[in-house]
Amino acid sequence: MKKVLIIGCGAMGGAILSGCLARGVWNQEDVVLKEHSAEAGRKKAAQYGVSWSEDGHEAAEADVVLLAVKPNVVPEAAKALAAYAPKGTVISIAAAVTLRDLASYFPEGTRIVRVMPNTPVSVGEGYTAIAGGPAASEEDLRKTEAIFRTLGRTFTGTERQLDELGALSGAGPGYAFVMIDALADAGVNIGLPRAVAIEAAAQTLLGAAKMVLETGKHPAALRDQVTSPGGTTIAGIRMMERRGLRAALIDGVDACMAKSDAMAKQ
Ligand SMILES: NC(=O)c1ccc[n+]([C@@H]2O[C@H](COP(=O)([O-])OP(=O)(O)OC[C@H]3O[C@@H](n4cnc5c(N)ncnc54)[C@H](OP(=O)(O)O)[C@@H]3O)[C@@H](O)[C@H]2O)c1
Repeated sequence: MKKVLIIGCGAMGGAILSGCLARGVWNQEDVVLKEHSAEAGRKKAAQYGVSWSEDGHEAAEADVVLLAVKPNVVPEAAKALAAYAPKGTVISIAAAVTLRDLASYFPEGTRIVRVMPNTPVSVGEGYTAIAGGPAASEEDLRKTEAIFRTLGRTFTGTERQLDELGALSGAGPGYAFVMIDALADAGVNIGLPRAVAIEAAAQTLLGAAKMVLETGKHPAALRDQVTSPGGTTIAGIRMMERRGLRAALIDGVDACMAKSDAMAKQ
């Protein structure tokens, strides 16, 4: 019996598989993957040293079924799996496919968990929101956390919180890339070479983020530590705040949430 069945092993499915194999959450002999064709499945399986499936029948007995296809492929892939009545935990990473949508494809009582990872899972620094469907148990949630903790940090809550985190951490890498690019422009503007400015900006945000996570201190307390009275850093912060940095970030996340809610109603 294979412990894990992965449906769709692309960018995300592959990152999750690599992370779980590297951290020993899964062993190669425990995993079988299914792609949209036998040929693609065979190739991907050889790449990761796991088995491949032609029809996904392993879903009937697998401990975990990971649904990692594009959202538009989910109905077809889920209905094909439903024929095998999965008894284990079915984890979907598809953006914007709700627990209600997912439940409609599977037999009643299927233990479904929805997750919202972000792209930094590909470098082991992701943030993944997790929400369980009505039939999911505490054990299903703990199992899902163990998988996604191999790729960064996790938060388990309600589906509404998962959607809210979609607007913060899901879309967040997009915001952060704009900030890094803008800081790099700032560096070039005052005379630095572009490559130096990009590396300095990215490493500075990475280091500051690490300090928040590792010290557990409030970001405002850490900011106070680097702003000496009448000094240069507070002069920079004052100008950024005057230009609306904080309000721009709050309004940006708010706009993303509003857009996501509007799209869900369509
Ligand atoms: N990438 C992200 O940043 C991100 C973040 C959060 C959530 N997600 C979610 O993650 C899911 C996967 O995204 P991705 O970026 O990993 O996409 P991807 O790289 O395109 O991976 C999807 C994989 O599924 C395969 N596939 C297509 N149809 C299939 C079928 N019927 N049965 C089995 N496999 C099939 C694809 O093969 P072919 O390429 O040969 O068609 C591909 O290998 C999406 O639902 C997305 O919403 C992604």
